[in-house]
Amino acid sequence: MVRRVIIGCDHGGFTLKKELIPFIEALGYEPIDIGCYDENSVDYPDVAFSLAERVASGEFEKGIIICGTGIGVSICANKVKGIRCALCTDEAMARLTREHNDSNVLALGGRIVGSELAKGIVKAWLETGFSQGQRHINRIARISGYENK
Ligand code: RB5
Repeated sequence: MVRRVIIGCDHGGFTLKKELIPFIEALGYEPIDIGCYDENSVDYPDVAFSLAERVASGEFEKGIIICGTGIGVSICANKVKGIRCALCTDEAMARLTREHNDSNVLALGGRIVGSELAKGIVKAWLETGFSQGQRHINRIARISGYENK
């Protein structure tokens, strides 16, 4: 079964997203691209909230969101209940956030990381599972508890 991944960007992430889409396909995933589709200026909250809501609803298990720095989209995505968005700048962060935080959205900075590094980050993030460690389960439950109070 091909696993679907939702992917989106603002104008600052457009070039990197274009490079990542065939790479993600080659890893065996189907990237569902929700835009933007060129370098015309758009507001990153629009695409970040839309992507995050579609992950939080269960429509997608995982999403990848890209802006210039990755910061704006990660702030937005983390406002959506149920989202654990990780802004990663190297492969170790990508692996550890999957193992420890069970992150469900990956944020990247299209003006910060080069495309080869970004590919390594995406591969590590998509291919690493949650560790299932009890301490990590407890900590994630604390996050959910805070969201639900
Ligand atoms: C857009 O110029 C830029 O502000 C945006 O891509 C992002 O870096 C915001 O955090």
